[in-house]
Parts: sequence; C-alpha cells; structure tokens
Amino acid sequence: MAKTLIKNGTVVSATGRAQADVLIDGDTVAAVLQPGSTLLGFEIERNVDRVIDAAGKYVIPGGVDAHTHMEMPFGGTQASDTFETGTRAAAWGGTTSIVDFVVQYPEQDVLTQHQVWQEKAAGNCAIDYGFHQILSDVQDSSLKAMDELIDEGVTSFKLFMAYKGVFLSDDGQILRAFQKGAENGAMMMMHAENGAMIDVLVQQAVEAGNTSPYYHGLTRPWQAEEEATHRAIMIADLTGAPLYVVHVSAKQAVEQIAAARDRGLNVFGETCPQYLYLSLEEQLGAPGFEGAKWVCSTPLRSRAEGHQDHMWRSLRTNDIQMVSTDHCPFCMKDQKEMGIGDFSKIPNGIGSVEHRMDLMYQGVVNGQISLERWVEITSTTPARMFGLYGRKGVIQPGADADVVVYDPNGHTSIGLGKTHHMNMDYSAWEGFEIDGHVDTVISRGEVIVDDEKYLGRAGHGRYLKRGLSQYLA
Ligand code: URP
Ligand code: ZN
Ligand code: ZN
Ligand code: ZN
Repeated sequence: MAKTLIKNGTVVSATGRAQADVLIDGDTVAAVLQPGSTLLGFEIERNVDRVIDAAGKYVIPGGVDAHTHMEMPFGGTQASDTFETGTRAAAWGGTTSIVDFVVQYPEQDVLTQHQVWQEKAAGNCAIDYGFHQILSDVQDSSLKAMDELIDEGVTSFKLFMAYKGVFLSDDGQILRAFQKGAENGAMMMMHAENGAMIDVLVQQAVEAGNTSPYYHGLTRPWQAEEEATHRAIMIADLTGAPLYVVHVSAKQAVEQIAAARDRGLNVFGETCPQYLYLSLEEQLGAPGFEGAKWVCSTPLRSRAEGHQDHMWRSLRTNDIQMVSTDHCPFCMKDQKEMGIGDFSKIPNGIGSVEHRMDLMYQGVVNGQISLERWVEITSTTPARMFGLYGRKGVIQPGADADVVVYDPNGHTSIGLGKTHHMNMDYSAWEGFEIDGHVDTVISRGEVIVDDEKYLGRAGHGRYLKRGLSQYLA
C-alpha cells in the first residue's frame, strides 16, 4: 500500500480553507495534518513513497460530475465519447467520479438495461462511476425495478417531459414514478420542458423554412421550461418525492425552484457551464450551420434576457445547488451534420466533462463565487446529493483519496481540437482562456494525471454503489 504526502498546499473544502498536509495511505486519506507534523516523532515525509509539493496551490477533493452520457444512443447516433475516452478526459480535467445515465427506451426492461450499461463501463473507466436510471416506460415492472435498483446503488431516476415517443412520460406516469420515489427514498430527476408545446413550435418552424440551429433555441422557449418545472414541482409536492431538476437554463425556472425551496420542499436544481457562459445570440446564432455545435436541451438562453447573470447569482444564493456538465458529445462530421437543413435532426448535446472544474474556477477568478463555493458546487454537493458523501466530495480521514492539486497561477487556452482529450472534432469552449490549471489528479491513491502526463488506465475506475441522497432537508 503506497503512501503519498501532499505537503505545503492550501486544502480547500466546502466550508473553509487551511494550510495543511494530506497523508494518503493506499486508496484512502489517512490524515489531514498541520504542515510539518510528525507521527510518533518520525518525520512523515521520510516514511512515504511519494511527496507532492503543493506550495502555492490548492488541494481539493476530486470533482464529481453527476450528469454524463457516455456512448449514449440518441438522436439516431451515439454520443462520441465512450466510457474509456470520456472518463479519461474527465480525469484530465480534475474530475474523479461521474454518475452516468442508464437509458430505458420504451418497451425495454429496466434491469436488463442496467446490466447492459454495467457491461459497457466495466473495465473501461479511468475514474469511479455510478449510474442514474432513465425511465421512459413507466409501468408496473419499471416501478418494481426501482426498488431493486436502489439495492444495486442506483438511487436516482430521471424522467422526461419532452421527446415524445423517445423519452417522454405523461403526467400520470410521472406521478406514479414519483409516488414510488416518495416510498423508497429515491431522488426523482426531471428533464423539465413542455414537449407538446415544443413539438408544435418545431414543426411550424421547419415548415416555414426556419431550419438553422438558431431555431433550436427559439422553439424551446423559457415558457416551456418554466411551465414544466412548475408542473414537476407540483407532482413532487403532491407525492412527497424529492425532486432534482436537471440542466436548468431559464431564470424563470430558477424562480420556480427557489419558490419551492422557500416553501420547504426538497426541490433542487442543477445547472451546467454552458448556461453560465454561452448564449442564444452568440453561439446558437453563429453564422451558417456553426450553431449546431451548441445545440443542447434545455437550449442556450438569450443574454439580452439576462439568464446567465441570474444563473451565477442563483449559484451564490444556493437557489441552484450544483453544476454538472450534461456531457453528451457529438462530432460535427457525420453527427451534428445530420441536421443540416433541419435543426430538429441535430443530435442534442455538448461535451464539457474535461473543462467543468476549470470553467467553474473562472467564477472564483471573476469574483462570482468563493473558492469554497467552487469546491461545494463541483464536488461536495454532487456527492451529498447522490449518496456518495464521505467517500467522495471531501478530504478527510477514511475518504477515498480522490484529490486534485490545482495551480491558481496556471493558464490554459482552450483551442481547436488538440487541447482537449474528449472524443470530439471541435470544442464548444474554443477560445476560452482559463486561469488556473489541474496539475495533479489522484484517484483512490493512484496518481492518474501529473504535470501534463496521463498515468491512468482503463479499468482503474470502479462502480460506485450509491446510497440515498444525503442532501434532503
Ligand atoms: O441536450 C442534451 N441535454 N442531451 C442529453 C440528454 C439530456 O436531455 O440530458
Ligand atoms: Zn435532459
Ligand atoms: Zn443529460
Ligand atoms: Zn500547472
């Protein structure tokens, strides 16, 4: 069992920061010590296998990205990152755990699908991974499977109010699933967009010849997100199930979540870097077919309407609790290109799993969030929200030794293709200048990234059997 000492760094948690040394023994954290501490009179440094000097750097718990879609079949194609390439890219960016989504399409058996995803991931992941379950066919057997999956460590279930014929559940089906969640303690996750409204708007736009990527944004208006968010909250209130609204982008949806929380409900919201930085006007509205790079749902919102600024504010006030990527990458060539001449055929999704920690750190640089809040929204809260806290999301004795050494004086320019490790032929983040740099990444005691070198391996990552949410009021 190798011992590692990370010395001289500033250890940052969700609640504070301190100059401290972190001792790792095997795959867990053994101690967080005053700098230069001795152990029974012995200098610790002489009794470890490796010393990492983190002077002038932050030592933070590894990132937890609770919303990814590795190799997901979607929109007539498949997300371009496999579990192997996607988790490697995550590691490069300081993320040491992901929670990915198993998909049940209509008429599929939930437990069979869970097994299929376990097999996709097994032996391929560079970092630890857990699963949520998507339910697209709420019937008796699916509800029964929810109980069985909780015993397997799948304690959260996503339903959709959009994508008729693919993912969409009607309100009665959602009600039944939420009743089950209220009974067994599962977190109910919602893709909150009014699909019926969107389908009409999309058809009208395409018929009118408005086929460019920009219309993806215009046909999924904030009213569709606000309405669906409100409806999901009402179903959660009625049933007593906890609700986690995924990929929130509209300020009006945030207000619905904030109002529900003010009423004391267990309602939570996640946003993603794209909704904090990118916009309908600048990205979706790019010339020609360029905007396809940023077609995702919920869509990028209008900067003129102020959604992005409002989202930063809600991260500060905890109206929104955490940031995941919704990593669902598609290449331009052959994938996004399926929608040339018809935006509705562009596969929905953006790839960011590698950049989340860096992108959110810019909020610290720009004074929008504190250093502690950065750790909280990218690691600690995701771990608590999805039943991983104690093992993940914190540097404390007994926790998994998932640790990132982050250099606030480093700098990265995200450029064309080559500066990322995701399996994508473009970057949604091209041109972003990042202050700060992921120097060293440790996953369960193993150094997997160090000083621009990748030292990890497929198969190091283990399946995370999760508990129930630790975030409920
Ligand atoms: O555009 C997106 N978000 N693609 C992934 C699927 C989903 O709805 O999360
Ligand atoms: Zn979704
Ligand atoms: Zn998603
Ligand atoms: Zn550096």
